[in-house]
Amino acid sequence: MKLGRLNHIGIATPSIADSIAHYRDAMGATKFHTPFDMPEQGVKVCFIDTPGQNGTFGTQIELIEPLDGNSPINGFLDKNPLGGQHHVCFEVPDIAEARAEFEGQGKRILGPTRIGAHGTPIFFVHPKDMQGVLTEIMETPKEGQHWSN
Ligand code: CO
Repeated sequence: MKLGRLNHIGIATPSIADSIAHYRDAMGATKFHTPFDMPEQGVKVCFIDTPGQNGTFGTQIELIEPLDGNSPINGFLDKNPLGGQHHVCFEVPDIAEARAEFEGQGKRILGPTRIGAHGTPIFFVHPKDMQGVLTEIMETPKEGQHWSN
């Protein structure tokens, strides 16, 4: 396994607007991307940048709000009404290779490899096989393909 950068931490929230206010006012965040809907995942998403080295941005916060009553994160919010940490996302250089390695380790992968919120291929690994942490694996964006919004 070739572990890459911690790309983002996914945080479920009942209100992206309230969470943006929190990260701005209590945490001092200054770089907010435009929220967008991912209807095929049943969620609205908003990325917040944390500062990185040399003027770049570092690990992002991914705010996730349910789009409707059928959203897969409604169950999480039922158990955690304030919202909370939902998943972590690590980059890997080659998504197919990483998937094959996890499968070889007998870990349960949730669904097919698909295009994630950054426009690059992702998959999720079951928290019960990942020390209790729902883990998203994402292929590192190619040079010049870096996602922005
Ligand atoms: Co994510």
